[in-house]
Amino acid sequence: MDIKYLYINTIGCQMNVYDSRQIACELKSLGYIETKSPDKADLIILNTCSIREKAQEKAFSFLGRLATLKKKKPNLIIGVGGCVAQQEGRNIIKRVPFINIVFGTRAISRLPHLISRVESTNSRIVDIEMPDIMPETINEQSFERASQGPVSNFITIMRGCDNYCTYCVVPHVRGRETSRSPQNIIRDIRNFVKTGTKEVTLLGQNVNSFGKKENLCSFPKLLSQVNDINGLSRIRFTTSHPKDFSEELMYAFRDLEKLCNHLHLPVQSGSNKILKRMNRKYTKELYIEKIEKLRKLRPDISVTSDMIVGFPGETDADFEETLGLMKTVGFDGLFAFIYSDRPNTRASEFSDKIPEKEKKERLQKLLDMQEAITRKKNRNHVGKIESILVEGMSKKHGNVIDKGINEIQWTGRTSTNKIVNFTNGHSQSKGTAFIDSSKEEIATGILIDVRIEKAFSHSLSGKAVTPGPLLNTYKGEKAYVA
Ligand code: SAH
Ligand code: SF4
Ligand code: F3S
Repeated sequence: MDIKYLYINTIGCQMNVYDSRQIACELKSLGYIETKSPDKADLIILNTCSIREKAQEKAFSFLGRLATLKKKKPNLIIGVGGCVAQQEGRNIIKRVPFINIVFGTRAISRLPHLISRVESTNSRIVDIEMPDIMPETINEQSFERASQGPVSNFITIMRGCDNYCTYCVVPHVRGRETSRSPQNIIRDIRNFVKTGTKEVTLLGQNVNSFGKKENLCSFPKLLSQVNDINGLSRIRFTTSHPKDFSEELMYAFRDLEKLCNHLHLPVQSGSNKILKRMNRKYTKELYIEKIEKLRKLRPDISVTSDMIVGFPGETDADFEETLGLMKTVGFDGLFAFIYSDRPNTRASEFSDKIPEKEKKERLQKLLDMQEAITRKKNRNHVGKIESILVEGMSKKHGNVIDKGINEIQWTGRTSTNKIVNFTNGHSQSKGTAFIDSSKEEIATGILIDVRIEKAFSHSLSGKAVTPGPLLNTYKGEKAYVA
């Protein structure tokens, strides 16, 4: 089989990142290996996101840039997948004449078949069929091999969404909610662990309703099974919906030692009127009550959230309620978005839209307030010792040769999901820092205690206090400090 090169551009959420990895695995069967250079590629796949207008525009601007490449290389195959592909289908082929394949969010397992048809017949194909049941067709062997390496890995445990929040395109582009079997999930995570994974994030649009339709085990029961996997250090999940955030899950936070100290629980607004129009099915009071209960069970948990500003009909008073909720809860971090009309959603038909200028002003006000809260929260960590899962050398200071040894920075996250850049805290003899990628592997994936010294708005920094196979290596010496 000839070697052919595949370049994947992924836009959007972690689900798309996971899907892209699956795409790469599926296409190995046709002889494609991944490249980081689009110029070298024989096949380019764009995995798209439709959550907001901007994400969709990003996809079309990337496709625009491919025009010259396709002219230079007429045999180049270009495929568009993901949420915009599902939503627009044939329109994409019409709008961008050089696209060969448009495939939807549930067509990944059919991709090798589609690509070989294009290779042999040069036809243009659209496959946006969306079966309610997702067959589990991932080629186990190749999936295992492709998942080699990452200390922190994702696993999709359910697909689709049935909640129909009025602003959201996801139920339309990802289809009905379906859960994967717990056995397959556990099998996949075990395989990840065999290849070096220490932390796994379970993905779904609403993980709390895991298994309900199919009568599988509950989400907290699944978490407990994952907790029992030897060799795994940390478990995270995203996203759970406040309306379904159950007491059982709160107890999981109390009882499962591998479950990280972090909950991402999108609230979207602090106004009950707006929450109702969003079809969120909870009130501000219920949200606050759930967070308070959880904090009683796990006092040091960090809580992050998503917020939409400028939803149709949002008055100044509604927005003030959102700011009020932020003060009451004190989020560790917040992802805030300007409301954006999406195709086929109910909110896109609401008439009382908020002017762009107003939306932007509200967003800025909200971000300023959150920045102050985050800084304060982060400052609380200063002086404390945190357990960090080492993800590698930090981009800024890693791989620096011939610099003072203290300059070598490593990076990782706290259990509360805060990024920490840190250096070795031990006394050291003189020498030249000699770090190469093989040495980096020695430290990556270990848990290490770090004393936090400084807090910023998006990260923390500090010094390691646990001696271990980390940090300083000298020419000719082993990568060991102890
Ligand atoms: N399933 C997740 C959210 C997935 S989308 C959940 O329910 O929490 C991620 C975030 O994008 C949402 O939480 C919301 O804050 C934002 N979002 C979704 N649709 C949007 C829209 N039309 N305009 C602006 N932000 C939107
Ligand atoms: Fe979208 Fe709501 Fe489903 Fe989240 S729960 S994916 S916001 S419809
Ligand atoms: Fe975007 Fe689709 Fe994820 S719309 S946020 S890529 S589910």
